[in-house]
Amino acid sequence: MKLWGGRFTKPTNELVDEYTASISFDQKLAQYDIQGSLAHVEMLAKCAIIPEADAETIKHGLEVVAQKIEAGEAELTQANEDIHMNVEKLLIDEIGAVGGKLHTGRSRNDQIALDMRLYLRDAVVSLVELVSKLQEALQQQAKQNLDTILPGYTHLQRAQPVLFAHHMMAYVSMFERDADRLIDSFKRINRSPLGAGALAGTTFPIDRHYVAEKLNFDGVVENSLDAVSDRDFVVEFLSNASLLIMHMSRLSEELVQWSSAEFNFIELDDAFCTGSSMMPQKKNPDVAELVRGKTGRVYGNLTAMLTTLKGLPIAYNKDMQEDKEGMFDTVETLKGALALFAPMIESMHVHKENMYQAVAEDFSNATDLADYLVNKDVPFREAHAVVGQVVLHCIEENQYLLDLTMEEFQQFSTSIEEDIYDVLSPKAVVNARDVVGGTAENRVEEQIHQAESRLSERHHWIQTHVDKVNVLKKN
Ligand code: ARG
Repeated sequence: MKLWGGRFTKPTNELVDEYTASISFDQKLAQYDIQGSLAHVEMLAKCAIIPEADAETIKHGLEVVAQKIEAGEAELTQANEDIHMNVEKLLIDEIGAVGGKLHTGRSRNDQIALDMRLYLRDAVVSLVELVSKLQEALQQQAKQNLDTILPGYTHLQRAQPVLFAHHMMAYVSMFERDADRLIDSFKRINRSPLGAGALAGTTFPIDRHYVAEKLNFDGVVENSLDAVSDRDFVVEFLSNASLLIMHMSRLSEELVQWSSAEFNFIELDDAFCTGSSMMPQKKNPDVAELVRGKTGRVYGNLTAMLTTLKGLPIAYNKDMQEDKEGMFDTVETLKGALALFAPMIESMHVHKENMYQAVAEDFSNATDLADYLVNKDVPFREAHAVVGQVVLHCIEENQYLLDLTMEEFQQFSTSIEEDIYDVLSPKAVVNARDVVGGTAENRVEEQIHQAESRLSERHHWIQTHVDKVNVLKKN
């Protein structure tokens, strides 16, 4: 007999059971579900909706069920459809009919909305922590490479030299925005929908705020219809996750390029690469490639959720059961990727000499020759044309700017003098970009310094929120 079997005259078709059940995947929510039930039952007793003694029995029973599920000793069945009804069934098996009082004043509709929020806020705090570790790894590479110069690229053509530290810090900025977005989303996730009932509220004199406080929510979702039909927080998370993995994917692409023989700018540590079953010489950047590849499923989960919600009338619709697998998959995909990326970046070996060589054998200092002429009062457009001529000459002669003699320079412009050799050296070229956010060494140092101090503020946020989301583990 189903928990809701009262009005039915025959058993559910087996295929329907199989098709509509969510227990195969929503069992991931078990501990959050029980965490919510513990708070709910305490509230029922406090508001004198059920006797205190019954509440105690139920709480004890829920704890036993939690342990059994955790230990893999509980039997979760498809016949009981989802995690909510499985827990309730296990509870009744454990303590008898009194367990049936737990669901007073509650519906699975507000219960699932609650579980989703409890799960996601926990995941968001973990992800912020993992992103912070990745930022730290990038910052560490930046600090070790304040004197490492590589060509900066536009259109994947060598453009102007930059510090490798500057390049690393660009990613730090990207991941900082990702973490900030996750942190900002927390306040929208962290609201309690419980008490909305199926959709309209409940006839029992419940105290929604009491439950919200017990579970460390920042407040309740105001409108009961909205409380059970809102999945914006899932969409927002999937969107934030998409941006995050898009950044990881771009970094992956650079790691793949840089570790090729053609670039040979870095070598990823052996511990983070894999080999080929056929070609004994191969060392493949599989982790970076797989992160780049998994970007597809993360975007897919976002698109799927948006599409599922589009056109749903208020309030709960069974379609919304589709909110879970994509969210779990995205959380797990990102946790896996981030956990690998931080140590992979940290252990990455940087071939400083090869990067420098790529700068030396290049015309990425051409802008500086033009700027030099501008400083000698040559109009920029004219300077640009002169330098174009110089570059063309060099290409024909198989030379670079710094190979030219003073006489050769002067054939193109008499404004060029001895000091040009200092001006065109890669180090001078880099340090000439001495503007806020520029690649000059002192500016990059400034960036690192500021990023580090913002990150230490973030650690404070993480600390207070780890405690907030761990109601269960603490109690
Ligand atoms: N398993 C359902 C879900 O995940 C729980 C809510 C079901 N509510 C209902 N009235 N069928 O969405």
